[in-house]
Amino acid sequence: MRPLKLSRSFTLMEPGPVVLVTTRDGRKNNIMTISWTMVLDFTPAFAITTGEWNHSYTALRKNKECVIAIPGADMLDTVVGIGTCSGADTDKFAKFGLTPVPGKQVKAPLIKECLANIECRVVAS
Ligand SMILES: Cc1cc2nc3c(=O)[nH]c(=O)nc-3n(C[C@H](O)[C@H](O)[C@H](O)COP(=O)(O)O)c2cc1C
Repeated sequence: MRPLKLSRSFTLMEPGPVVLVTTRDGRKNNIMTISWTMVLDFTPAFAITTGEWNHSYTALRKNKECVIAIPGADMLDTVVGIGTCSGADTDKFAKFGLTPVPGKQVKAPLIKECLANIECRVVAS
């Protein structure tokens, strides 16, 4: 065992699974990686944790919708890559060779290469 800063202790208990969250700010699609996820109930409702330091946050707060996309294990490098660059200066669909698919319920795009896509509306923030 080795000492860990108290401020990093949350990293020992982060829940999963790791997902990709897409948003659309009106003009551009974006994707971010989120591991801080939780199923809240069977309605269904999900919790994700993020904040204003991410570019996705503005679109998420403004449009109150997103897509939670479930990547396969084969997308590991893509998932880490998406989570270490910003939509502020990067088109992540182009950079990571992903295909946006129009949703039926929300303007945020589905990701064709993912195993599943859940169209979501923000009900609480
Ligand atoms: C494996 C992994 C998990 C992550 N989990 C979260 C998370 O739960 N919440 C969060 O706000 N950021 C998380 N991030 C960081 C964001 O994905 C990252 O800041 C991203 O660049 C934000 O993109 P954006 O600025 O285009 O919105 C994670 C990154 C990685 C690589």
